[in-house]
Amino acid sequence: MNILVLHGPNLSLLGEREPHIYGTTTLADIDKELDRRATEAGHDLKIYQSNWEGQLIDLILDNRRWTDIIIFNPGAFTHYSYALRDAIAAVNKPLMEVHLSDPTKREEWRHKCVFEDLPDVQRFMGMGVNSYTAALDAAFARAVPSAA
Ligand code: DQA
Repeated sequence: MNILVLHGPNLSLLGEREPHIYGTTTLADIDKELDRRATEAGHDLKIYQSNWEGQLIDLILDNRRWTDIIIFNPGAFTHYSYALRDAIAAVNKPLMEVHLSDPTKREEWRHKCVFEDLPDVQRFMGMGVNSYTAALDAAFARAVPSAA
């Protein structure tokens, strides 16, 4: 299966950014591990990071015919970007929403999630890097077994 992995704003600084919250693993390390697991399982990944809402929207729309599923850490856009929510709804793909921290246990403004009422969304949060690998495993579990 084809899986689009998107990292939103400020995640390029992982490893350096508030390590007491987000840990010390870099985004390059996360991407390498996701890619290794996908290759081993026979799935294709495209991985992008952007700090720009419009670019993330373009990536979602432009990959709509390629991807079967979207794994997305929208960063702070999680809490207010109705444009990104509309983009996911428009392409009508399952969403695996990822957060390293657990936003529901942090400041109140992080409790709101604009994606949570989409028809097909699963949330993986509060597990650090394992939030990403859990989302990837959940995506693999959706793969239709090929005919023998
Ligand atoms: C985050 C949580 C968001 O609230 C925050 O704005 C981020 C990272 C996470 O991975 O824990 O940028 O999505």
